[in-house]
Amino acid sequence: MSEASNAFLVVYFSRSGRTRRIAEMLASELGADVEPICERNSGGAQGRKRGYVRSLLDAWFERPADLLPALHDVSRYDVVVVASAVWASHASAPAVTWLKEHGGRIPRLALFCCVRRRGHKQALKQMMHAAGKPAVACCVVTDRDVRTRVDGVKRQAFARKIRHQLPDRFEKEGTM
Ligand SMILES: Cc1cc2nc3c(=O)[nH]c(=O)nc-3n(C[C@H](O)[C@H](O)[C@H](O)COP(=O)(O)O)c2cc1C
Repeated sequence: MSEASNAFLVVYFSRSGRTRRIAEMLASELGADVEPICERNSGGAQGRKRGYVRSLLDAWFERPADLLPALHDVSRYDVVVVASAVWASHASAPAVTWLKEHGGRIPRLALFCCVRRRGHKQALKQMMHAAGKPAVACCVVTDRDVRTRVDGVKRQAFARKIRHQLPDRFEKEGTM
């Protein structure tokens, strides 16, 4: 497991790539370390067989996902952002499993969801419950936000809220 080199870590699970793209942009804006949540066997024959129905049922019944070990030690970061797609008005099963495994060691949690249209309120609540703590900041990006190009504005406002968790440190470093 690697040492923290930054104040922020962005962890994400993305199936079709939208959450990944936004998580990577956010990480770049924050100067954060970034880590995908990876399921075991997701690249092999078994993984390829996994369909949308299976993902949906996993989320709906909160079935635990079989995850690869984390690469970063979450307890060494000031804020850890966890990003997930919304599946069946739930957070994705891999993100929920990751939060149950690591949430207790996260000093400050921030949450981010990508959603077509609805279900994000329940998903965010579920993610906080899985982590066992409230989030210091939340952000939701819908398909409409992407179409109307307000996703960047939302993401930047979210990044500002996250940075504001550490006013003294950033003032000292002259990065605000
Ligand atoms: C299995 C499954 C279930 C979904 N359920 C919902 C839902 O309940 N509400 C919604 O607005 N979007 C739903 N979506 C759409 C995704 O939340 C949305 O497309 C998201 O941007 C996908 O993120 P990703 O590209 O990072 O995987 C669902 C998508 C999948 C694959």
